[in-house]
Amino acid sequence: MDQLPVFFNVADRWVGVLGGGSAASRKAEIAMRAGARVKVFAAQLCEELHELKANERFSHLPRAPLVRDLEGCVLFYCASENVEENRKVQALARAARVPCNVVDMPELCDFTMPSIVDRSPVVIAVSTAGTSPILGRMIKARLETMLPAAYGQVAAFVGRYRKRVGSVLKDFRQRRYFWERVLEGPVADLVLAGHEAEAAAEFDAQLEAVAKGAEHQQKGEVYLVGAGPGDPDLLTFKALRLMQRADVVLYDRLIGDGILNLVRREAERIYVGKLPEEHTVPQDEISRMLLRLAQQGKRVLRLKGGDPFVFGRGGEEIELLAEAGIPFQVVPGITAASGCAAYAGIPLTHRDHAQACVFVTGHTKDGRHDFDWKTLLQPRQTVAVYMGLAHLAELTRAFIDRGAAPSLPVALVDNGTRPNQQVLIGTLDTVAEKAAKAGVKGPAILIIGSVVRLREKLDWYVPEQQASGAKPTAARNAAITEPAAE
Ligand SMILES: C[S@@+](CC[C@H](N)C(=O)[O-])C[C@H]1O[C@@H](n2cnc3c(N)ncnc32)[C@H](O)[C@@H]1O
Repeated sequence: MDQLPVFFNVADRWVGVLGGGSAASRKAEIAMRAGARVKVFAAQLCEELHELKANERFSHLPRAPLVRDLEGCVLFYCASENVEENRKVQALARAARVPCNVVDMPELCDFTMPSIVDRSPVVIAVSTAGTSPILGRMIKARLETMLPAAYGQVAAFVGRYRKRVGSVLKDFRQRRYFWERVLEGPVADLVLAGHEAEAAAEFDAQLEAVAKGAEHQQKGEVYLVGAGPGDPDLLTFKALRLMQRADVVLYDRLIGDGILNLVRREAERIYVGKLPEEHTVPQDEISRMLLRLAQQGKRVLRLKGGDPFVFGRGGEEIELLAEAGIPFQVVPGITAASGCAAYAGIPLTHRDHAQACVFVTGHTKDGRHDFDWKTLLQPRQTVAVYMGLAHLAELTRAFIDRGAAPSLPVALVDNGTRPNQQVLIGTLDTVAEKAAKAGVKGPAILIIGSVVRLREKLDWYVPEQQASGAKPTAARNAAITEPAAE
């Protein structure tokens, strides 16, 4: 270890800053955030420092610092744009034995400034000992994505109970087990979900049970999580967090390995997938499995493609849980229509093309499309058809028979957002034939409407499989599409 990591208490103590520019303002601002009083030594102040002047913890001295100024400080930052001035004041600080940081000169620093992940009172500091602040910032960005914003609330919540737990549970190990259960279980979940009163009640019940020596009956729960259309980067932070907590995961066909690999490694994996014409596990059996597993005290992750409440039967799966009083959470995901449209460069609405967008299922009832055609065939509207591939020819024919222009632009996005994404552009009267020729297997979504034409300009996503030996975008489009015509 090159440096000693410590957290310095500067509340109500003086911190000095040399310089009036933006580097100085960042140092002043962070010291004040930690409760310090700040003296800035500079002939002039930049706009950000001017704004800090309103704060009573801030003072400005338009002159160079003297030895007595330095002696009154617990820390000093040399953040002037004048390197010589920084050197001079750093020498004074050293003589006065005040720890000093000199911007961009790690060799002169008594301490360096880490990258910070702030979930106060939880603070994570990342240091590269001044060797690469950019690497520090990249690590910080990763940590930011892993820690829910409400972690600070969890820390503050448990902080309020620390003394009480210490007085009730005298044994160190018993206390540790208790805290682990609190921080990994429903209490922390309830705080993160913003239900502090319920969290407090659950906390009290757990503490009482442990104090009485009775093992608290661990409650199971279910997380119904939308995993998006395929690209693991489209998962939400909350989805990822719950995926890391699960004891068992039930997943279906739309969940690729890239996403499944992010589920807690020790979690049991149960495939309940459905192919379009083949129901591997009947829907009501999935609901009963969720209930059974939760009743065994497990944290059950039900991972679904896209959004669980958009053509996902998510509502049906949790009805039984609601009736049985099993706690559950629902995490929305990016639905196929918006994910595929974004990765195909097709805005679903656009001022010049469509003011509305309708999502429909292409599933047939007794071989017929049971649409409300009047609503569906409105002008200046985009229609996204889920599950339309199996009966694509009948579907597009039905649109034309009901009065849609045969030349209406259509995009068929196959395996959208994934490395093997393929986009076929055609019209109502050509797309089915093109899909058959290209051997599209799905999952695929149909986007119907004049917004499809915008792809010519807005196409941006190069699927990995095309990127190897990639052709320029226009050439790539020519290979798999043809210009849309009306
Ligand atoms: C049973 S629905 C589930 C929809 C899902 N709940 C959602 O919100 O996206 C399955 C249909 O979603 C569409 N779909 C899902 N993932 C897709 C993808 N990566 N690319 C294209 N279409 C997709 C297809 O139309 C597929 O037949």
